Amino acid sequence: MQRDDRGLELTTSSASAAEALSRAAASLVSHRLDTMAHVNAALEADPGCVLARVMKGLLVVGVRLPHRYPEAQAELDAAEAASGGANEREKGYLAALSALIRGRTLDAVSHYEMILAANPRDLLAHRLAQFELFWIGESVWMRNIVERGAPTWSADVPGFSAFQAMRAFGCEENGLYADAERYGRDAVERDPTNGWGAHAVAHVMEMQGRHEDGIAWLDGLKDHWAELNNFVHHLWWHRSLFHLLRGEFGTVLEIYDRDIRNPEAPLIKANPGHYGDFQNAVDLLKHLDMYGYDIGDRWEAVADLAEDRIGNHAAPLSSAHVATALAAAGRDAALEAYLTALRGYASMDETNNAARVRSAVLPAAEGAIAHQRGDHEAVLGNLLPARHSLWQIGGSHAQRNLFTQILADSAQRLGREHVVDMLLEEMAQTGFAHPAERLRPPGARMH
Ligand SMILES: [Fe+2]
Repeated sequence: MQRDDRGLELTTSSASAAEALSRAAASLVSHRLDTMAHVNAALEADPGCVLARVMKGLLVVGVRLPHRYPEAQAELDAAEAASGGANEREKGYLAALSALIRGRTLDAVSHYEMILAANPRDLLAHRLAQFELFWIGESVWMRNIVERGAPTWSADVPGFSAFQAMRAFGCEENGLYADAERYGRDAVERDPTNGWGAHAVAHVMEMQGRHEDGIAWLDGLKDHWAELNNFVHHLWWHRSLFHLLRGEFGTVLEIYDRDIRNPEAPLIKANPGHYGDFQNAVDLLKHLDMYGYDIGDRWEAVADLAEDRIGNHAAPLSSAHVATALAAAGRDAALEAYLTALRGYASMDETNNAARVRSAVLPAAEGAIAHQRGDHEAVLGNLLPARHSLWQIGGSHAQRNLFTQILADSAQRLGREHVVDMLLEEMAQTGFAHPAERLRPPGARMH
């Protein structure tokens, strides 16, 4: 028996495997590139290490590509075969992986919660629970888990910076901006490479409309992101949002081409279909399009990625964005195939995600398609009744806001000022300061 760097028991006799697993967890919570390398090192040291096997499976499931789930299942099978002496915590991870492969996200989160009830310092379980809940929009649940563990954490526990970043993000998505900024800044002061901490504070600034602060904050940290995985593109997406708020559309596009969707960037080349990258790209192009800014032929490459995602229902926000991209590129045949697959999934599947597709993804997709086709009555028809369900698409307030803006844009184009006022009031209730500045800005600078 070994222990990880927070003292939690690991069923392995190999000290090297235990060390590699601690490094893998640190890498995962920090969005670094080398997570799988550390997991593989742990397996090399002890091929029967249950948690290493499960972690490998969780990394596969984490990329949200169901055609790769058999790889995760193979790791699960190997872990189960080796799990005779596994402890309760490790069995909890096994159960979580099994649930995720079957699309049972809420079951998986419940397994993480049970792990955390007994082991509140399990950094990996905290991160994985936050990840899953974030992607289905369960922000209250997400914060509760971190706060429940907080009394057992302090600066002398390894990984405290990562924990503070999770605490910051939980607060931010629940509108507790002062706490979120305090924890997020603390996370980054302890570790300037902490991308999740930088991200939480950027979200606070986004919600509060503090574009100048946001640009300065991210600009001051960008040199610390060299080891980050594709999440670094999401940080640049946040940077772009601040320029978007200022009407600096040319700068948004420069950042898009250089730091978000640069086909020559090694991270993009290695993983061109990354779901987060796809979401960032669709969001920015749709915003620019909606504001009337010329984005050239950039939809084409993104629509290619969207076509590859037809039939993939593992990530609700990405599913909704597929509709936006295909409609924008005028790919009607692909859109039909996409909608057929999505409706079939929504009506026949039994997983947690299917319910979310029914109540949120489908109306969002149909709203985005109607908007692109200039059928603004249909946008209102789809999105007004669904707008209070859109949180189920997952992601952050900032990410989901695209659909509110699409709805408000259609209401504006129809001259329905009372609807626009209602939506602005609701955006303010959600936590957005100065929501009117986010609508098609008549005085925006087109450079
Ligand atoms: Fe974000």
